[in-house]
Amino acid sequence: MNILILGSGGREYSIGLAISKEYEEHNITFCPGNGATDKIGSNINIKDYKELASWAKNNNIGLTIVGPEQPLVDGVVDIFKQEGLTIFGPSAKAAQLEGSKVYMKNILKKYNIPTAAFIETASKEEAYNFIDSMSKTPIVVKADGLCAGKGVIIALSKEEAKEAVSGMLSGESFGDAGAKVVVEEYLDGYELSIFAVCDGDNYVVLPAAQDHKRVGDGDTGPNTGGMGAYAPTPLVNDDIYKKVEDRVIKPTLEGMKKEGAPFEGVLFIGVMVVDNEPIILEYNVRFGDPECEILMPLLETPVSELFYKGATKQLDTLDIKIKKQFGVAVVMASGNYPYGSSAPAEIIVDDIHDEVLKENSHISYAGVTKDGDTLLATGGRVLLCVGFGDDIQTARDRAYALCGQVHFAGKKCRTDIAYQALK
Ligand SMILES: Nc1ncnc2c1ncn2[C@@H]1O[C@H](COP(=O)(O)OP(=O)(O)O)[C@@H](O)[C@H]1O
Ligand SMILES: [Mg+2]
Repeated sequence: MNILILGSGGREYSIGLAISKEYEEHNITFCPGNGATDKIGSNINIKDYKELASWAKNNNIGLTIVGPEQPLVDGVVDIFKQEGLTIFGPSAKAAQLEGSKVYMKNILKKYNIPTAAFIETASKEEAYNFIDSMSKTPIVVKADGLCAGKGVIIALSKEEAKEAVSGMLSGESFGDAGAKVVVEEYLDGYELSIFAVCDGDNYVVLPAAQDHKRVGDGDTGPNTGGMGAYAPTPLVNDDIYKKVEDRVIKPTLEGMKKEGAPFEGVLFIGVMVVDNEPIILEYNVRFGDPECEILMPLLETPVSELFYKGATKQLDTLDIKIKKQFGVAVVMASGNYPYGSSAPAEIIVDDIHDEVLKENSHISYAGVTKDGDTLLATGGRVLLCVGFGDDIQTARDRAYALCGQVHFAGKKCRTDIAYQALK
């Protein structure tokens, strides 16, 4: 089949890599892809979605997979479907679950899905009154719209919470994305990423993962796009999975149908587990990055089949198979990440002579550009070293062994990925 993958990160690379390893041969095109995806398939760069849909038709694309949130919120799925193309992802309307935190919180409330107590408002006065009425700090303030992972402030005092509200509502902090805010109670627990692949009616749950958002070891320093992940995490159990299915996934799919926006695509459920109860922090409408980089290789079911059935309402006929292994992904980032950009640096990967390491690890390329035969680190998150094993420690050792084989000026990574599982 001819498959088109939208996006340019490690997430899209990992989807392509998994598809390229299936026994059936596929032709993969990335739009726009990165400096390494052209080894898996080919790269094209068409920015206009209508033009891209015509290209897809003319090139007999049988399945399109959308990686990032922006094209989904912009309606790429609707445009492709109008052209009769098969595309896996939510409509613009359903993508509001991620595009607007106000919309998402109102859906959670309407369908009785457990989430932090909140107010959503465009009025500074209303937000301030709510903050004054709160009995505990920290207080969480969220900009409504897409902010590339920077729109959430955990305020340690009421004054700080009010400052955050004021900065958002004035447009100073996040422009239009802050025209409305969510103010909510702080949840104290541990975080999980749970993914449900949905076709509007049916769903398949993938093994729960844990991301590491902060730049520094021990979860210190500013938030990033994610510095590493592992799965399956032992911090989840059947009881939590069941509660998430019954209290979260099922009512969300039912609710979205009632809203006239059936949810097709990947539902990323950001969960905070508080006293064994899963409370929903947020939804995303696509795979998390770096979680995708470990989930794709852990699937025994062909990735193309999972997404194709998701796109054609056939998930009820899929018997999902997951490898009985653990995966750990360590992000190697540029020196100035996440504060600013860094000078391009040549990437050198040593030959790996250890057969066991070779077979149980790989690199997922993200922020890289090709300059002739040279691969350059040009993005914040440059690449991920991914290791697999029969337990988390082994998988992690392999991921870090691979990190030792990768060189570029300024490279940095966290040294404690998966620490919560190994405590
Ligand atoms: N109510 C909350 N209580 C505690 N921590 C929170 C809360 N809401 C968000 N966070 C923290 O902030 C991070 C970002 O918030 P999230 O709602 O996921 O927004 P986004 O991913 O769009 O930035 C979460 O991953 C979590 O660590
Ligand atoms: Mg989040």
